[in-house]
Amino acid sequence: MKRSGFSVQSLCLLLLLCFNYPIGILSLKGFAGTYGINYGRIADNIPSPDEVVRLLKESKIRNVRIYDSDHTVLEAFSGTGLNLVVGLNNGLLKDINSSTDRAMSWVQDNVQAFLPETRIRGIAVGNEVLGGSNNDLYGALLGAMKNVHGALKKLKLDDQIQITTAHSQAVFSNSYPPSSCRFKDDINEFLKPMLEFFQDIGSPFCLNAYPFLAYMGDPENIDVNYALFQSTDGIYDPVKDLHYDNMLDAQIDAAYVALESAGYKKMEVIITETGWASKGDSNEAAATVSNARTYNYNLRKRLAKRKGTPMRPKSILKCYVFALFNENQKTGPTSERNFGLFKPDGSIAYDIGYRGLSSSAASLKDLQARYYLCSHAITLAASVTVLLLLRRLL
Ligand SMILES: *[C@@H]1O[C@H](CO)[C@@H](O)[C@H](O)[C@H]1NC(C)=O
Repeated sequence: MKRSGFSVQSLCLLLLLCFNYPIGILSLKGFAGTYGINYGRIADNIPSPDEVVRLLKESKIRNVRIYDSDHTVLEAFSGTGLNLVVGLNNGLLKDINSSTDRAMSWVQDNVQAFLPETRIRGIAVGNEVLGGSNNDLYGALLGAMKNVHGALKKLKLDDQIQITTAHSQAVFSNSYPPSSCRFKDDINEFLKPMLEFFQDIGSPFCLNAYPFLAYMGDPENIDVNYALFQSTDGIYDPVKDLHYDNMLDAQIDAAYVALESAGYKKMEVIITETGWASKGDSNEAAATVSNARTYNYNLRKRLAKRKGTPMRPKSILKCYVFALFNENQKTGPTSERNFGLFKPDGSIAYDIGYRGLSSSAASLKDLQARYYLCSHAITLAASVTVLLLLRRLL
């Protein structure tokens, strides 16, 4: 794995981020700026929640999702100012759907008890339920969300805590080109009333979108550079007369098209998961450190531009990256355990401009080396500019 000091690319990203930071402060319903991260914890070797808070603060990542409501995590986030979305997991859905009392006690124990010191700003009710294999949960999802919302309302917390649920691409019957995207017929009966409810309470449509998976599903016809936000000819959607230079934007606009054709033209799409694995099995050739670095580095740059998509240019894109750590106890293919920006010891998995947690002596040395290279790069850039100006004058 290559880990060079401070590349000119990183410098540009840093400058871009610095210039964007002050305007980025306006916070939309518990999301500061455009960049968030998923703090998955299916691992027995990751740092303690207190260490994780330090890592997040040093990396200036201010929006975090967890997949449960673990109380040690909720306590560690207390007083940090970090925006947190907690998860009510699939295993609880039937229970919460069938009882308003259960919904109330869940909200009291896992949300209200930690407010306001822990900035819980959202509850993700269920994960990738619709379109998933567990069909008997389809009918419990909306009821569970309504019961949780009812509890928040009674506690007068509904204006500060947003209810959402994350969808996978499996809710769509077709997503290429974006203008052809529609929701699957067999989930419409569950989805429509949910979208109606979301429209009433002002919740966004949350999508887990992985160009990594789309590329691996069709490597012959998809240019990996298009999936990685690298420079390509992109794709053209003739129906909408729109051009896409990267796959993530196309996937998001596909969701906008599906929502529009279902009658929800104003609903915002946010990305609750996206990422790229840095290691995989022999049949997952795209899962490399180099590709994962390129995807996550370019995604950071994409988000720092504070832009919408071709179809919704004014709707500034917000993403939660998947994920903070490699998670050694996840099942499935090797890629599943290798989505982290950070290794279990808190060091970076690859360099996209974060430092990670490392021993103080090493990190100081690292910093000095970076500072040297950084000032070197600035001097070089300044000299080149002066030379170019001189050439034009002479
Ligand atoms: C959800 O709750 C409703 C109302 O109590 C009930 O009729 C329905 O069967 C429940 N669905 C599931 C899947 O538990």
